[in-house]
Formats: sequence, structure tokens, C-alpha cells
Amino acid sequence: MRAPTRSFPALVLCALAAWLGANVPAAAPYAAQNASAAAPLPLTLPNKDDALKFGVMGDFGTGKREQYQMADQMARVRTQFPFVLMLTVGDNIYGGSRPKDFLDKFEKPYKALLDAGVKFYASLGNHDSRQQSVYAPFNMDGRTYYTFKAPRGSVRFFAIESSYLDPPQLQWLERELESSRDDWKIPYFHHPLYSSGGRHGSDLPKRKVLEPLFLKHGVSVVFAGHDHIYERIEPQSGITHFVVGSSGQLRKGNINRSTGFTAFANASEQAFLAVEISGDELHFNAVSRSGKVIDSGVVQRRKSE
Ligand SMILES: [Fe+2]
Repeated sequence: MRAPTRSFPALVLCALAAWLGANVPAAAPYAAQNASAAAPLPLTLPNKDDALKFGVMGDFGTGKREQYQMADQMARVRTQFPFVLMLTVGDNIYGGSRPKDFLDKFEKPYKALLDAGVKFYASLGNHDSRQQSVYAPFNMDGRTYYTFKAPRGSVRFFAIESSYLDPPQLQWLERELESSRDDWKIPYFHHPLYSSGGRHGSDLPKRKVLEPLFLKHGVSVVFAGHDHIYERIEPQSGITHFVVGSSGQLRKGNINRSTGFTAFANASEQAFLAVEISGDELHFNAVSRSGKVIDSGVVQRRKSE
């Protein structure tokens, strides 16, 4: 059999392509990738049709390349696992509140999610201006703390402004937790009650104020950020706490291994959480900037005694 030969024009084209490959500047670092073109991610969520699916991310609004790469993975996750909302646990926009900050640190990186109709529900971190509460895509309606019912399932979320746990907010929280008849009452906010982050760690004064309310009112799971790591805490009095503070910022290796309450922690790359609630089970996958599922599992709903 004759070996295939290349014609002269084909050789010229090959050479031209090689030259172009070597000389055309790399794609802009912030350009969105085509989420659907990549290979499927190894998600382990049940992905039931009638489940509530959402994401959790924190400490993300840097405008840097890593935030955009993490955002691309979120969009990839969504093509497989169609989550409908995204909770933010604060430090949403670092370094200013100009229109350009919102554009570069939120609208551009999450364009694919926004275009797909994912609704973001923000809570505020210590770096966030309170003006963010009137930024329409954060769905805060001018409030710095608020509650809303999930679009499906017996689930209610409570966005808390943990920088200012003043009496009016605490009275509001107690009233809302008390009156909610939902099976899942899910608080989310910035400062973690439990964290093995070396920079901040557990916020003990806030734990003292909030934990009794969560225990009294049947909370099973809590999402926070602030430390730029991902951590899942061993259940504390039956409540599972997550730190999702590395969705843009990352404090590499910043884990204090001596706290004794870490179920899993990662501070080697950015991460966000994909969550599914169905009946009494909450399934989660923590997905990293490189598309790995770095943590997964199930939280059973805590039933009140
Ligand atoms: Fe923070």
C-alpha cells in the first residue's frame, strides 16, 4: 500500500497553521470557554428531575483570571446539573462599587449562568458595600438581610448580614425562623461559625449568638465563607457547616489542621459547591477550578425533637 503523501498546498497550509499557532497571542485570559464543548465533569449528584438544585460560592469578586476559570467550571456544571439559583456567602465585589467593578467581577465571569436564567441571591461580606443590596442581579431588593422560599421543595433560605448582627436583625431572624414551616431552613452568611482557616478561623462571638437560634429552629446546614478555603465541618450538635470562601480568592494551604472538626478541607485551588435537595437529603459536590469533584456527600435533614 502506498504511504499517503501530502500535496504541496497542504504542506503550505500546515506550515501556515503552525506559524499562526506559534504567533497568535493566546486567547484573552478572561474569555469565556465554551462550556458545552468540554468533557463531562465527574459529578456524583443524583440529579433528580424534581429536586431543588443550586450553587453556593463565596469570596469571588476579584476580576482575576482564576475567578473566570472557576466561573467556566460553574457553567460546565450547569450544563449537566441544571441548577436554578446561586447563593453567595459574601465578599462579592472586591475593591470598589463602580459599574466597571460589577461588570468585570460579576456580569462578565457569570454571563453564561446569567444568560441561562440562574438567579443569584447575595449576602454581604466585610469587603462589600451595602450599595450592593440595590444591585438588581443580586436579588436583595434593597435589603441587607432577607429570606426567600426556594422555587421548589420545602426549603427556605435566610441571607444574614453577619458583619452587623444587631438586635433588630437578630429579632427578625428569630421571628422568621420561628414562623417558617419549611423542612429545610438554610442560613447563609459571610463569617463562619466554624472554620479551620488559618487566617480567621471560627467566629466565636457570632457562634454564641447564632448557633442557639439554629439549634432551636431545626437548621441542618449552614453556608459561610470569609476564610479563602473550602471546608466541610463534622456536624456540630447535628448541624453541618460549610466554608465556601475560595470561589475566586484562595489562600493556598491556609488550613489549621488542629481544630479537630474538619471533615474535609482544601486550600489548593478555587472551589464552589453544587447542591441538590430532595426530600430529607441534601447532596453536595464541591467542584474545583480545574473541574475536579474534591468533596461529595449527603446531609440528612435534622428532625426537631
Ligand atoms: Fe471576608
